[in-house]
Amino acid sequence: MIDPYIELDDVSFAYKNNMPIIDGLSLKLFGNQFTAITGPNGSGKTTLGKIMAGILRPRKGRVMICGKDSAQMKLGEIGQKIGYLFQNPGLQIFAPTVREEVSFALELKEYGREEIEREVNRSLRDFDLSHLEDAFTFKLSRGEKQRLAIAAVLVNNPGFLILDEPTTGLDMERRKVLSDILFSLKKKGIGMAVISHDRAFISRLADRTIKMHGGEIVEDKT
Ligand SMILES: Nc1ncnc2c1ncn2[C@@H]1O[C@H](COP(=O)(O)OP(=O)(O)O)[C@@H](O)[C@H]1O
Ligand SMILES: [Mg+2]
Repeated sequence: MIDPYIELDDVSFAYKNNMPIIDGLSLKLFGNQFTAITGPNGSGKTTLGKIMAGILRPRKGRVMICGKDSAQMKLGEIGQKIGYLFQNPGLQIFAPTVREEVSFALELKEYGREEIEREVNRSLRDFDLSHLEDAFTFKLSRGEKQRLAIAAVLVNNPGFLILDEPTTGLDMERRKVLSDILFSLKKKGIGMAVISHDRAFISRLADRTIKMHGGEIVEDKT
């Protein structure tokens, strides 16, 4: 058995002083697996995804990422290992233009000018954003913002991706494009946890399906 990429060990989480949303949950996610997470609205999917991505810190229990306790890791270090796409991707775009948004992560890594150009151009092409490279990000459509957010997450080359309802706001054609991208990432061995109700989208990709209800995992099928 290979080591899990992400491991939640007896994790509990509550927003502020509210009742715990997640209470004593344990879960292993593997780097070579595509895991679909489903369940009704309010069942805790987004909360779970954010805990797995290190964005929300558990109140009790541990989240291990690649064998390391995430409590000992800075968000930047976690971001190199796990790419996370918000349910509303507009929230994670902060650069003024499309090109700058994709370049940002590479500039942090102090890549050379030419290498950054090459990587950014490739990413823009992959996500059909080349014609928008100088566009202001706040003017993009929802689908364009979503493609940009995924592109910016993927230039980091994370070994694992967590996507929260990535097909929302995408038309059929864009959904097919996203599905093809995820399929090729999967073939490259990138692990994924995708929160989605979109059965047709999930069924092509998923190796494993987790169903949530009331903050608990009520089904886990491989
Ligand atoms: N920021 C927050 N503050 C307080 N409660 C929240 C917050 N975000 C979500 N919740 C509550 O946590 C529960 C789970 O929500 P969420 O994880 O968003 O579920 P899902 O993604 O499955 O719709 C819901 O009852 C929701 O109202
Ligand atoms: Mg949600």
